[in-house]
Amino acid sequence: MRPVPASSPIVIAHRGASAVAPENTLVAYERAIEQGARLAECDVYLSSDGVPFLFHDSELERTTNASGPVTERSLVDLKQLDAGSWKGPEFAGERIPTLVEFLEAVKGKLRPVIEIKGKDREIEQAVINALHEARFPSEDAMIFSFHYKVVAEIARLDPSLPTTWLVTPPEPGEDLGPFFRAALKARVSALGVSHDEVTLPFLQRAHETGFPVFVWTVNDAARIRELTAMGVDGIISDRPAMALGVLGRNTGN
Ligand code: G3P
Ligand code: CA
Repeated sequence: MRPVPASSPIVIAHRGASAVAPENTLVAYERAIEQGARLAECDVYLSSDGVPFLFHDSELERTTNASGPVTERSLVDLKQLDAGSWKGPEFAGERIPTLVEFLEAVKGKLRPVIEIKGKDREIEQAVINALHEARFPSEDAMIFSFHYKVVAEIARLDPSLPTTWLVTPPEPGEDLGPFFRAALKARVSALGVSHDEVTLPFLQRAHETGFPVFVWTVNDAARIRELTAMGVDGIISDRPAMALGVLGRNTGN
């Protein structure tokens, strides 16, 4: 398995510094950099004309001034939308970034963690193409996905691109063997688990099998201390400055 950065747990800014700026927009990543983050997560879909772009929900309502399914919009359509006002008037007019725009904006400042939300129309190759277009080395990025097929396909297309499979761990008492055999088969580099679902037996078995474990979304200092004591390898937080501060790493990872 590929190593995680030297200081563990790593801190990953969730959708940028999304507690203080509109998630998945460039200003959220500027804020994450200001807060000392060295890694930041984004969510990615393909537009109807095949361009990967940053967005979390499958529908537009919550975070834009439009409605309906995001993947039915062309890039030109998506670029008309206001993706900032919902968070506050100071963010009015903030646009939905393409994945290439995001990568170019963070290059040399943040390690991108790209969560692939969609699972159709060869989104894996489109994401790899975006990394190439932005001249971003594969090993400097990470791919996350809940979709087993997506992480397996990324590992097949570009083995140098680290992948994290986001999972619900098997129930306590359930045989963990089939789960970990599937993870090994897909050649994933790490596992991601909701912080309220991670258990010590799961964490220990993941480590024995060679998988770091990252947990989301942790915005509470006491919980970060507990998870660090348990031995998790990554904390995904909307509040990277707080998380780094709790870990005594205000200058980043
Ligand atoms: O990083 C994993 C986490 O982002 C998954 O949940 O809903 O925030 O995309 P969600
Ligand atoms: Ca996500």
